[in-house]
Amino acid sequence: MEKISVIIDGKTVEAVKDQCVLDVARDNGIYIPSLCYNTEVKSSGGACRVCLVEAHQGGKMRLVTSCNYPVRKGLEIKTDTPFVHKIRKGVLELLLSRVPDSDVIRDMAAREGLTETRFRKDEGERNRYKCISCALCTNVCAEVVGVSAISMEDRGADKKPATPYHKPSDVCIGCGACVYACPTGAITMKEKDGVRRIWGKDFKMIKCSVCSTPYIPEAQVDWIVKTTGKDQGFFDKCPDHR
Ligand code: SF4
Ligand code: FES
Repeated sequence: MEKISVIIDGKTVEAVKDQCVLDVARDNGIYIPSLCYNTEVKSSGGACRVCLVEAHQGGKMRLVTSCNYPVRKGLEIKTDTPFVHKIRKGVLELLLSRVPDSDVIRDMAAREGLTETRFRKDEGERNRYKCISCALCTNVCAEVVGVSAISMEDRGADKKPATPYHKPSDVCIGCGACVYACPTGAITMKEKDGVRRIWGKDFKMIKCSVCSTPYIPEAQVDWIVKTTGKDQGFFDKCPDHR
């Protein structure tokens, strides 16, 4: 790992060569908004564009998405210029007009002084699905969980995750990783009487032998046992009582 120095907002900071600008900024307590990037998911990032910053190198300036722009020697990043805020505001205004009910986007937009949008839709449109088509959910499912139960369908603004033919997936294990990864809370997962419902399929939950709380789907345990060889008995107790 080659260590280098870069400048972010006038401050010289240490980074690992090729680390993305967003991670370096986060490590140094510098705020850059982000939605579609997750450090655990290699294929994430580059979709929402809220993380745009100025990259200065060799006398040239480029506007780059910080979540997939690698740091190199001599790079200077500016996250807080009038130009960055103008572009960021425009991106957030568009996202807000698309999914006005997402709290996370509203909070980011408010931070840029944006509370109303020129693109506001009528009441019916406003309560629609919160998806911003970032594909983080499908990437987590394929890359981290390793089951590929969902994929992106349709194009443009209508692009969204779905199970094949909109039928309950044969391979979904009900783990909810897509729900936890989604930046806008667009995926619904419900639990009642020891049964989890997600993507139109019901999953029986295993109860902790100590506190009786249903905490993990049987199908997820079967998958972990099959793919890692972990002992089934390990899952008798929830993480709090192991
Ligand atoms: S459901 Fe969430 S994670 Fe999946 S594409 Fe839409 S916004 Fe991204
Ligand atoms: S967080 Fe960088 S493009 Fe979405």
